[in-house]
Amino acid sequence: MEFEMIAKTFQGLENVLAEELTQLGANNIKVGNRMVSYTGNQEMLYRSNFCLRTAIRVLKPIKHFRAKSADEVYEAVKAIDWTQYLSNETTFAVDSVVYSTEFRHSKFVAYKVKDAIVDQFREQTGNRPNIRVSNPDIQLNMHIAEYDCTLSLDSSGESLHRRGYRQEAVEAPLNEVLAAGIILMTGWHGETDFIDPMCGSGTFPIEAALIARNMSPGIFRQGYAFEKWADFDRELFEQIYNDDSQEREFAHHIYGYDNNRAAVAIAERNVKAAGLTGDITIQFQDFKDFTQPAEKSIIITNPPYGERIKPEDLLGLYKMIGSQFKKQFVDNEAWVLSYREECFDAIGLKASLKVPLYNGSLECELRKYQMFSGRYNEVRSEGREIKSEDDRRQMAEKRRFKERRAVMQRLDETDEEFESRIRRPRREDRDERPRKFDRDEKPRRFFGGDRQAGDYRKGEKDFRHKGRDFNKGKGRRYED
Ligand SMILES: C[S@@+](CC[C@H](N)C(=O)[O-])C[C@H]1O[C@@H](n2cnc3c(N)ncnc32)[C@H](O)[C@@H]1O
Repeated sequence: MEFEMIAKTFQGLENVLAEELTQLGANNIKVGNRMVSYTGNQEMLYRSNFCLRTAIRVLKPIKHFRAKSADEVYEAVKAIDWTQYLSNETTFAVDSVVYSTEFRHSKFVAYKVKDAIVDQFREQTGNRPNIRVSNPDIQLNMHIAEYDCTLSLDSSGESLHRRGYRQEAVEAPLNEVLAAGIILMTGWHGETDFIDPMCGSGTFPIEAALIARNMSPGIFRQGYAFEKWADFDRELFEQIYNDDSQEREFAHHIYGYDNNRAAVAIAERNVKAAGLTGDITIQFQDFKDFTQPAEKSIIITNPPYGERIKPEDLLGLYKMIGSQFKKQFVDNEAWVLSYREECFDAIGLKASLKVPLYNGSLECELRKYQMFSGRYNEVRSEGREIKSEDDRRQMAEKRRFKERRAVMQRLDETDEEFESRIRRPRREDRDERPRKFDRDEKPRRFFGGDRQAGDYRKGEKDFRHKGRDFNKGKGRRYED
């Protein structure tokens, strides 16, 4: 049966996500603001979570309605037959996102939704399901745009950028979803060598290897919210999980460098955890010592912006980057994600493409530099094309991005402001259970320490699937 789904993403990655969904075979794909809606069946829902590189989470809407007040939200939610999704034994949580002049407080909306569900159970059974903020059985998502409300089941749970391979991070790690989106945007799928000369914890190299080999980012994950749903089809998910038929050979190589020894050690650990040491080489090297690679290559990198990492001479660093591109990366293309205009100015090269992208709350830009052996003007006079059709299309998308952003100003207060002003949630709704570990605080290891990607190619087919073990006992999770 076909149903509606919504994949959420970062602003600027919507078209990349729509393309991924097209490849996956989704129907009725519609690009929105930081989301793409589409239709498909249960398999599409599982595949979306397992395969999409640029989705942050996948929602399954269960009710669309219009409401002009919190009471109307309450009534509409109470009218849903919640026994389809919950019982007194299941725990649930509600997340809400509100863009509305009427509903200014997303948390208040979330409380109303919770109240409606709890009251329905209490009236019908005299008992009620419990609220649990961390790791609930059912995660609900309420989205309000002015008066249009959509209540969805969150099928992902923990954000999909948490792939599961990251053992440790450097000071300013790039979000995995953003890293994958940037690589897909450049059009690179493994056709040449790949270099990140300032790789930090190795996010670009690892995401690049997954793309080059067409490996699903879900293979490292420990679980998805849909696995706790009443209609979970374990057999179908196992099939998807164990199907590596779409994976391909990668004939080139990926290099990550950094001039910080701690970052190099972290990147090495992450690469090892992902089982990709055969495809990725991480080395200590300052970019000023980088020399022209023998093979055709692409550089994709995000140097320090001077926000969290503050190099002594930030502009000097960018000047060096520009000079190295020009002298040591001839006839190749380089893509730089950065934040400040003056940093890009210091590179001193003309970008053939500028794409606006958010990195967290920072409004960044991804710029493409095409290095030719001749001078830029000579190249132009020879009539060689610098800006491709794709570049032009993306430039137009940049203009649309800026317009949309102005319209979609989020109106609700921060959680702290709200908490200090409004009533506390009902006492029984507060999540007072002791927190289990947070994966960022206590990273898990999925692989035996000495496993290498080479082992995989030697025939140990499914060693990467150590987040869980479907072959030995149904649904048993690997934990250490
Ligand atoms: C913003 S971080 C990159 C984060 C990375 N993309 C990740 O996901 O973890 C920038 C990195 O550039 C490195 N770096 C700064 N100057 C460098 C230089 N001259 N040569 C090589 N690496 C440099 C820093 O050590 C830092 O790890």
